[in-house]
Amino acid sequence: MVLDALIKIKNEIDPTLTFRRSCREGICGSCAMNIDGCNGLACLTKIPEAGSASTVTPLPHMFVIKDLVVDMTNFYNQYKSIEPWLKRKSPPPVKGKEIPQSKKDRAKLDGMYECILCACCSTSCPSYWWNPESYLGPAALLHANRWIMDSRDEYQGERLDAINDEFKLYRCHTILNCARACPKGLNPGQKIQNIKRLEASSH
Ligand code: SF4
Ligand code: SF4
Ligand code: FES
Repeated sequence: MVLDALIKIKNEIDPTLTFRRSCREGICGSCAMNIDGCNGLACLTKIPEAGSASTVTPLPHMFVIKDLVVDMTNFYNQYKSIEPWLKRKSPPPVKGKEIPQSKKDRAKLDGMYECILCACCSTSCPSYWWNPESYLGPAALLHANRWIMDSRDEYQGERLDAINDEFKLYRCHTILNCARACPKGLNPGQKIQNIKRLEASSH
């Protein structure tokens, strides 16, 4: 994998080479970078045919801290802004117990809970490149949809109101670069469509 090559370069050629990695199996999302023009995880991207050169660059349109390490502060703040936690108005049905969810409702979270927040999608999105401060981007919006669709959450209306904004949400023009870039096979653009549908029916 490309990550093995980077580790080899760091160990044997240039110890100053700086990149993030942790799990080396596509779970932590740390090793996201642009490899030969496509965003992806270095630990899941195979080294191309022997003999051919590869170009590895930091995630596009992000501020670079050093080498392949980009500043994720804005990305994480946008994630935080959608309040990615369960919010309730009423107590659990049985005090001190978990809030039950039917299998059917649980299945509505498929395609979202798997997100590892690698930022491959947001940093491949032209709308996010031009408006990184004001457009929430596909990753944060996928998570907004994840909580909007959670049958246990009781703040769907407030969540929809909070992102019903020309920039936060409607900068998405359904170009779907995000779905092509996602190393977990998720489709954030489709989830954004769902939010827009809900916005249209709730106003
Ligand atoms: S579908 Fe929306 S979020 Fe995805 S790349 Fe296109 S504009 Fe960006
Ligand atoms: S939706 Fe996919 S590409 Fe985007 S942050 Fe999550 S795992 Fe990464
Ligand atoms: S090292 Fe964790 S996703 Fe690549």
